[in-house]
Amino acid sequence: MSHQRVAILISGGGSNMASLIDSMSGDHPARACLVLSNNPQAGGLQKASERGVPTVAIDHREFGRDRAAFDAEMLKTLLDAQPDILCLAGFMRVLTEDFVNHWQGRMLNIHPSLLPKYKGLNTHARAIEAGDAEHGCTVHEVTFALDDGPILGQARVDVRAGDTPEALAARVLKQEHKLYPAVLRRFCMGNKDPVLLP
Ligand code: GRF
Repeated sequence: MSHQRVAILISGGGSNMASLIDSMSGDHPARACLVLSNNPQAGGLQKASERGVPTVAIDHREFGRDRAAFDAEMLKTLLDAQPDILCLAGFMRVLTEDFVNHWQGRMLNIHPSLLPKYKGLNTHARAIEAGDAEHGCTVHEVTFALDDGPILGQARVDVRAGDTPEALAARVLKQEHKLYPAVLRRFCMGNKDPVLLP
């Protein structure tokens, strides 16, 4: 049986990427075929290489404000790797409609909030600021609208008294590392029923 091919896009440390790669083993129907970063200094590139996954860095700064040119370069690189599924994992670029158009329906992202709450940045501080009792993370299909799209999974954590954004983020990240692999495995099987943890 040939495996489904998964490309993972990162910008930073790649802890979600590492969890995804490590989950694609044994009877898992997919394997990582490429890790692509817009940041040549991304720590995740080293983690990918240590796991034997090919890596490419395309420095978005070389494209200035031309988002379309950067996305076109990413698309070219990805078409060479022939992925079946794209996983955005700590990928901090807003994608052009052309790029989303190409991959829509087979492109996932993880966002550190219980969407539709707190789209965008600084989600943990905003949840604390709002006095929420619960927070968490969401895996969703990527569509044209930022941090939108069909929800494929969510994991919840309690917000504790005195929580700092960093402490809360650390607890959410642990859940991300469980949620994203569970969602990817289900997605590979063609099952889009949301994974809800715990
Ligand atoms: C995580 O909080 C994730 O939710 C967000 O990027 C952060 C860093 O992720 N998308 P990683 O360690 O680079 O996977």
